[in-house]
Amino acid sequence: MGESTPALTTVTVDLGDRSYPVHVGHGAISRLEGLIGEARTVAVVSQDGIPNLVNPAVLGDRRVERLTIGRGEVAKTLSTVGDLCSGFAAAGMNRADVVIAVGGGMVTDVAGFAASAFHRGIDVVHVPTTLLGMVDAAIGGKTGVNLPEGKNLVGAFWQPRGVICDVDALATLPDREVRCGNGEMAKYHFLTGDDLAALDEVTRIARCVEIKAEVVASDEREGGRRAILNYGHTLAHALETASAHDLAHGEAVGIGLVFAAELARALGRIDAERVDAHREVVEGLYGLGADIPDVAPVSELMALMGRDKKAIGGLTFVLDGPNGVEPVAGVDPVTVADLLGSLVRR
Ligand code: GLY
Repeated sequence: MGESTPALTTVTVDLGDRSYPVHVGHGAISRLEGLIGEARTVAVVSQDGIPNLVNPAVLGDRRVERLTIGRGEVAKTLSTVGDLCSGFAAAGMNRADVVIAVGGGMVTDVAGFAASAFHRGIDVVHVPTTLLGMVDAAIGGKTGVNLPEGKNLVGAFWQPRGVICDVDALATLPDREVRCGNGEMAKYHFLTGDDLAALDEVTRIARCVEIKAEVVASDEREGGRRAILNYGHTLAHALETASAHDLAHGEAVGIGLVFAAELARALGRIDAERVDAHREVVEGLYGLGADIPDVAPVSELMALMGRDKKAIGGLTFVLDGPNGVEPVAGVDPVTVADLLGSLVRR
């Protein structure tokens, strides 16, 4: 696992001349200045209520523009991206300057997308402050916003200059946010078989980053293998949209993982024991719910899943099977709809 000290671990996302470090550990914010380089102006994009990790001491004598965006998925819009770009322009930022995104996945997704578009692309450093952000959203360069038609439908691949996962930021993380991170952790459990829950916090986060970094390095723009990182996400995204985001992402992923296992069994890819293993990990190890809430008619969930970005030939799911977890296109919609109908909690 990369260069390592007990307090701080660095994992590299290996993308040739666009490779970048992910610093993980207590006090990792001390590595921020090394990532900003020669920039004279930095825009710190964050939200109300986010720990203010980026204080003047870590920014030297640079000009700092602080921009605040709204909270929640409802603010994850093109209009917010427009506001940020106007803020960058008003601060006189140019391509030598840097955006620093401080917050959860929503902040890094939106600020990363604004950075990708402003002046056709300026550098961004991500400082995730949630578990979900550290183990998933801030790593791998996916940026974007929602449309009324679905989640993350507009965006860009825009790799950051570096990522700082300062584990001190998690000390005050609300329980629900911890559960959200756990949804992604459960996903990594099935991608690798690693018992992540047995590791100490810094090592666990660094291991998740390492798993993700390896997948991203092998398929940066999701031509194939990277889709495995969406294990559990097909139903999850539909449930999030259908529930108007009452269901948070990681909670929805837990439900989606167990549904994907049930579907894999219905398609003869895995046995009942393997489905039980999914329930045990999601519910037992990570304390998440696995029942599908009745947030919308099955027909609406089917329509939402049909618009999923992975859908290339009819419905596409990431499914477990004899070759491990892999994307499967052209899944029979009748099987999916029947299974959903039988599993929705009424
Ligand atoms: N969150 C899935 C990915 O980054 O590919």
